[in-house]
Amino acid sequence: MSRTAPWSDQLLPLGGPRRHLLDLDDCSREEITQFLDTAVAMREILRRPVPKAPALTGKTVVNVFLEDSTRTRVSFEIAAKRLNADVINLSGSGSSVTKGESLINTVRTLEAVGADLIVLRHPSAGAPYLAAAHLRGSVINAGDGWHAHPTQALLDLLTIRDTFGRLEGLRVTIVGDILHSRVARSNLWGLTRMGAEVTVCGPPTLLPPAWPAGLAGCLRVTFDLEEALSGADVVMALRLQRERMAAGRLPSLREYSRLYQINDARLARAAPQVLVLHPGPMNEGVEIAPTTAHGARSAIEDQVTNGVAVRMAVLYLLAGAPADTPLRPPAAEAVRP
Ligand code: CP
Repeated sequence: MSRTAPWSDQLLPLGGPRRHLLDLDDCSREEITQFLDTAVAMREILRRPVPKAPALTGKTVVNVFLEDSTRTRVSFEIAAKRLNADVINLSGSGSSVTKGESLINTVRTLEAVGADLIVLRHPSAGAPYLAAAHLRGSVINAGDGWHAHPTQALLDLLTIRDTFGRLEGLRVTIVGDILHSRVARSNLWGLTRMGAEVTVCGPPTLLPPAWPAGLAGCLRVTFDLEEALSGADVVMALRLQRERMAAGRLPSLREYSRLYQINDARLARAAPQVLVLHPGPMNEGVEIAPTTAHGARSAIEDQVTNGVAVRMAVLYLLAGAPADTPLRPPAAEAVRP
């Protein structure tokens, strides 16, 4: 099933087998490439004098954000509006979630009023899988607990590919609180699937004790930042997720910064044209020095900008999927209770 959008000859055909985007662990290299190529086509729309296209006319996108967000929430809303969807935003406070309504009943309610796509951010890992199992439309995971943040990973991949023209063979180092980072987890699936050589680095208390079978053996893991940065083409700094962190994981922020902060002096060990990324929000002066965050090697603002095009691409590609497309189950080990 496919039909070509009449308003642009640059876009890939609408429709395909994927109905939900819950993580990148079940995305093939070809699918990831399709998301990225479609995002590039979406950027052309965003550069027009009137940056809109009617691709999602008649579709209703509901953004359900049960956890705080700036970048993801705003860019999904802009993305849906750029494609002419009807957009509804729902947060925890002010909705019947505060009265105890379950996620399943919330999803059923949204479907009953006409939601075609639900974008869900939820504090619990696995929540989007539950929603997907009870919705005839599409679910996009906008971040679930520690587990996954696939559209963030896609925009990170696009930002890297824009700079280097490829992902294959690049040396990518992710530094910081890997344990609590859904951004890191989705990036690990995406980067390794696209052929990047990935190193993860952080204090022992902030690295996972074990890796899913599909990732173990594909990563270099080290506590030593100098070793991790050596020759890196891309360095991604992560925020300390203190809202998810049990006490005692770190002696102090000062100690963490002393050992693991990404700054210009430390980047001297990386490749000369190293690209610096951060998914945001940043705690400047903790995991990244302000001069590095806003320096010549930083692509942090490009990441945010790419978020709109990537989310347009994801909404567009999922909106064309027929309603009877089977739900792809998550890799069992990827979902935490
Ligand atoms: N990167 C990211 O998810 O940022 P927000 O929490 O602001 O959406």
